[in-house]
Amino acid sequence: MKLSEKIRYVGLNDTTTKLFEHQWTIPYGVSYNSYLIVDEKIALIDTAAAACREEFLEKIKDEIGTRPIDFLVVNHMEPDHSALQQAIREKYPDCEIVTNAKAVPMIEGFQGIKDNIKVIKEGETLALGETTLQFFMVPMVHWPETMVTWCPEEKTLFSGDAFGTFKVAPECVIDSKSDIFNEYESEMRRYYSSIVGKYGGPVQTALKKLSGLEISRICSTHGPVWENSIPQVLEMYDRLSASRLEKGVCLVYGSMYGNTAKAAEAIRAQLTAMNIPVQIHDLCEEDLSFALADVFKYDSLIVGSPTYNAGLFPPVSAFMEALKARGVKNRKFAAFGSYSWAGTSVKILNNLAAEMQFETVHDGISFAQGFAPEKFAADQIAQSFA
Ligand SMILES: Cc1cc2nc3c(=O)[nH]c(=O)nc-3n(C[C@H](O)[C@H](O)[C@H](O)COP(=O)(O)O)c2cc1C
Ligand SMILES: [Fe+2]
Ligand SMILES: [Fe+2]
Repeated sequence: MKLSEKIRYVGLNDTTTKLFEHQWTIPYGVSYNSYLIVDEKIALIDTAAAACREEFLEKIKDEIGTRPIDFLVVNHMEPDHSALQQAIREKYPDCEIVTNAKAVPMIEGFQGIKDNIKVIKEGETLALGETTLQFFMVPMVHWPETMVTWCPEEKTLFSGDAFGTFKVAPECVIDSKSDIFNEYESEMRRYYSSIVGKYGGPVQTALKKLSGLEISRICSTHGPVWENSIPQVLEMYDRLSASRLEKGVCLVYGSMYGNTAKAAEAIRAQLTAMNIPVQIHDLCEEDLSFALADVFKYDSLIVGSPTYNAGLFPPVSAFMEALKARGVKNRKFAAFGSYSWAGTSVKILNNLAAEMQFETVHDGISFAQGFAPEKFAADQIAQSFA
């Protein structure tokens, strides 16, 4: 598919894989985007996931026929983009790999390729004919070896995972409809918070580095090609990576027998009555990435857990670990939960909140056995977030 006379989309949509990285649910699928620049020389930017081999090679052939690929640019070595490097080498034996020094041992380790690799440095260029490619290092967006590739003549940034999103783009690879960004906003936030969320600092560094480029097309490795939504996409990454949060509550809980769940509902009803935006997440019913996506949106977090073997209920424990792993901090916080004989969950949650530099705005409510609305001061918890 032509993005311009010289740039062709040769990515693929995956709607059969259930879990991305074998852990994040992808109800709307994911695409592995790859691009060809067809000039006097032909460059391929990244490859795709292993399962796509035949379709991927077919798509390339449809674009370039019998011409060879001269360069394979490796922006990122995560196997969703690197798995078909060997396949490209087999089909196009003279294809030179173009990448940075940090990717070289990974290329050998994952793909067993050692030869015909051109190692480029920050800012270096590669002429393809009328077009040029220029390389900028963006370490930790998403791995240490990640770089982006800039084509100044096409004002196109091949951004790797940056600005990517879950959810395939079945009808239009390009964001040609003006409201398409809104259709992807929540999946893009879920992608960011689960995959890239730990690396807010490096994302900020990368955004500053790229701020001088006059970008009119962003070709990321997942989701639509951004042409019409570039300001929204850049603003979103800046906001998420700098932790600029909206007023509102992400209300997250797990519950075995429904008592902590009823308390969560009571808090949600009070927040709603007070016109405080709230999104509720049951960790036993959905992948924790949905809750993470709202942690990255709202300035407040309320967490409910029953006491379980003198600790947290495991799904809630996993959620709190996920927050710690991403260095989430500076949220307004409160906790609640049911127990039977010795409640510890609220205390543990408050301790974790202190570790993460949250501001605990309410001491929390630990209640024995069944949920009784008249004994549970949901209004007081909600009031603390007004
Ligand atoms: C495997 C298991 C372990 C538990 N461990 C504790 C415990 O250590 N201390 C305690 O007070 N209650 C413990 N409980 C009781 C629950 O915390 C209690 O039943 C609570 O009401 C469950 O809340 P829920 O209805 O929101 O699931 C445990 C329950 C189960 C099933
Ligand atoms: Fe990645
Ligand atoms: Fe990726």
